[in-house]
Amino acid sequence: MDFLKPYAALIESEIHQLQLPGTPETLYAPQRYILSSKAKRVRPILTLMAAGMCGESIEKSIPAALAVELVHNFSLIHDDIMDQADSRRGNATVHVKWDASTAILSGDGMLIQAILQLQNLPPDVDYKKINRIFLNGINKVCEGQASDMEFEDRLDVTTDEYLEMISGKTAALIAVSLVMGGICAKADDEKLEALNEIGYSLGKAFQIQDDILDVIADPEKFGKRKGGDIYEGKKTYLMLQLLEHCNKDDKNWLINCLKNKTINDDDVLRIIELYESYGITDEAKSVMNQFYAKAEKALQLFEETKYKGDLSKLINFLKNREY
Ligand code: IPE
Ligand code: IPE
Ligand code: MG
Ligand code: MG
Ligand code: MG
Repeated sequence: MDFLKPYAALIESEIHQLQLPGTPETLYAPQRYILSSKAKRVRPILTLMAAGMCGESIEKSIPAALAVELVHNFSLIHDDIMDQADSRRGNATVHVKWDASTAILSGDGMLIQAILQLQNLPPDVDYKKINRIFLNGINKVCEGQASDMEFEDRLDVTTDEYLEMISGKTAALIAVSLVMGGICAKADDEKLEALNEIGYSLGKAFQIQDDILDVIADPEKFGKRKGGDIYEGKKTYLMLQLLEHCNKDDKNWLINCLKNKTINDDDVLRIIELYESYGITDEAKSVMNQFYAKAEKALQLFEETKYKGDLSKLINFLKNREY
């Protein structure tokens, strides 16, 4: 974990220095609230590491790193409304602490702050290119989020559809984080492509793991409600596998449960037991590890540097994360 500290400290200090106005309070207080809650800062750290790996000083990519973290936090505020989630990073979610209108607007404001951050990039960075990659990435996140919501009402979602959905909602921003670091370092197309590939594989692994942690993590550590995805009827990797592999009786019960949309605490416990008894959790972990391995493989294109070593350690750290 020590290897992460300098990167995380840099990001925390930069976030701390963002001068958010005091008023209107309902616009800025929720932004300060979510930005000061305990987060891993994975995406901005990826931006810094990618810039370093492509031979640039990591400081040069700080505005891009801040931009991705701001977008990420914006997406969490809105995601928690969409997912009716009550807790995030161990705290009440913004729409619960304030209300939905406040959460929508403060989220919107953070998205704008994110886009504005890119104006602070040094003049020799290809602003137009970075802006295009960034905005297209955010649009992919919206596409993924739309599919994620549409899938709540479907029982026939395929694994390919799921992978496409998580490529959008989660992997796109992780890929953009890395590619933007590369652009700050004026990396060539081959390197940008490799960064993109690392990002998509890492992002898919990260989301499958998030699906797993939803049911196996200690909610105290994970900071989110246990089984939140099940209550919402989310078509997670685990749910799709269970629908595919369980016996007829279990399937009838499960489909009935999902159709009624009134999943209670006992149903959630039973579904978690089914994940265990059908070996679904282990199967999901193995698919997750395959995506982590793909990310590690794509990383091998880069020459040996401290930053490449650190990114490799970060991949390993994420693989074993509990939150
Ligand atoms: C949560 O992201 C949203 C997902 C894409 C699963 P993180 O797990 O990176 O959340 P924080 O920023 O560390 O809280
Ligand atoms: C994360 O999906 C995607 C975005 C926030 C864009 P989830 O809905 O699974 O994330 P958590 O579990 O709420 O963090
Ligand atoms: Mg959510
Ligand atoms: Mg969601
Ligand atoms: Mg989740």
